[in-house]
Amino acid sequence: MKQHWNATFELGNELIDGQHKTLVEETDKLSNKLESGNIGKEEILETLRFLATYAVQHFTSEEKVSKDADYPNRLQHNSIHNEFKKTVGEVLEKYVRLTSDEECTAFAKDICDFLTNWLAKHIKGDDFLLFQYIKSKKN
Ligand SMILES: [Fe+2]
Ligand SMILES: [Fe+2]
Repeated sequence: MKQHWNATFELGNELIDGQHKTLVEETDKLSNKLESGNIGKEEILETLRFLATYAVQHFTSEEKVSKDADYPNRLQHNSIHNEFKKTVGEVLEKYVRLTSDEECTAFAKDICDFLTNWLAKHIKGDDFLLFQYIKSKKN
């Protein structure tokens, strides 16, 4: 599954947009490597761990923006982040237990599709609403 960064992901906060861009682009890169078969089990794991760590850092930044703005839907938004962290943790645990290269590549492709879909839906949905609220407060 392909998803290139474009202006429809931009929410108007430089820090957050930059972090979203990194998440979308790194997921896209991993997806390309998986498709070309040009990546081994260890590099896949390294990339997935990077994405998971980076996503947690991003949530910390975003939750601070949300708290500072007193966003009314803050707790619900944070709980979506927590649910994602839990899912990614479980998925990584499952990945490290796989042994064959074929299984690893196939499962990594599923993870990549999940990340691609989740990021687009979350950024253009939940995150969009947060930044729309912040913009409406400024006006
Ligand atoms: Fe976000
Ligand atoms: Fe978010």
